Amino acid sequence: MVKYLIVSKNYINQVINKNCVNGMDSLIAQGIMVDLIVADPPYVISRDSNFHTMKDRKNARTGTKFGEWDKEFDNSAWIIKSFDILKDGGALIVFNDFKKASDIINICYNAGFEYKDVIIWEKTNPMPRNRDRRYVPSLELMIWFVKIQKEKWTFNRQGNTYQSPVMRYASESGGAFKRYHPTQKPVKLIEEIIKIHSNPGELVLDPFMGSGTTAISAINTGRKYIGFELEKGYYDILTKRISEYNIKINHKKTNNVSLNFYNVEEEIEEHIGIGQQSFHFAM
Ligand SMILES: C[S@@+](CC[C@H](N)C(=O)[O-])C[C@H]1O[C@@H](n2cnc3c(N)ncnc32)[C@H](O)[C@@H]1O
Repeated sequence: MVKYLIVSKNYINQVINKNCVNGMDSLIAQGIMVDLIVADPPYVISRDSNFHTMKDRKNARTGTKFGEWDKEFDNSAWIIKSFDILKDGGALIVFNDFKKASDIINICYNAGFEYKDVIIWEKTNPMPRNRDRRYVPSLELMIWFVKIQKEKWTFNRQGNTYQSPVMRYASESGGAFKRYHPTQKPVKLIEEIIKIHSNPGELVLDPFMGSGTTAISAINTGRKYIGFELEKGYYDILTKRISEYNIKINHKKTNNVSLNFYNVEEEIEEHIGIGQQSFHFAM
């Protein structure tokens, strides 16, 4: 029997089933400001494909039609609101399709953000493609912006020498991984971003929580989180995922079992099969 966490009124360590633009307004009205925003908005790249014929393994990726939420989306309102809710020196990391990079950069620039760098997620298990006509679709883009009103921002280099902007992780939205959402991001990738761009104890906002990956990554890295998710179906999935994860790590702590956060999640079969299953990739 799963016990869900009690909802506190201050939004900390919670995800709210609400449009993130209205949600950020509520946070600002309560005087809540955040240290880092990790945003994975709809890319609006859904299209028909024949990937549903791939039945070669468990949880095979079965489509590039992600759902209604990926049909139309305007990035302006949430980016403008993100500027208001971010603390001075805070970072905004935006996942998106390469084709939309210049749009995102323009909107962020007009909102007041300073562009810093691009970060590449290289998938070690990319989707197949016609290898005689195209490159394999193994790359996804993150764009890093900073709200600078003073000349200081957080950058916790993880590498021994330089920080590489290329991060290599397997996609978790298919294959051997537990799939909660058709475009879920790898927990370890988000952990790396959080560690570089925030400090322990700080507050991370994810306006588009999807399956709650950023919340799990924040828990694993000792940060607080707040998030929003518009679709009730995914909100229910992420609530269950986070609650069960918290119960497991608390159980392990009280029983003095050494923690390997990333591996304590178990397969939750009923989560699989919501919407079409696949992942973002550049077309
Ligand atoms: C690309 S997915 C995020 C996946 C997430 N990173 C994960 O690892 O599971 C984008 C999510 O944003 C949600 N969404 C779309 N518009 C929204 C809005 N205005 N406010 C909050 N959530 C929204 C969609 O329902 C979808 O689940």
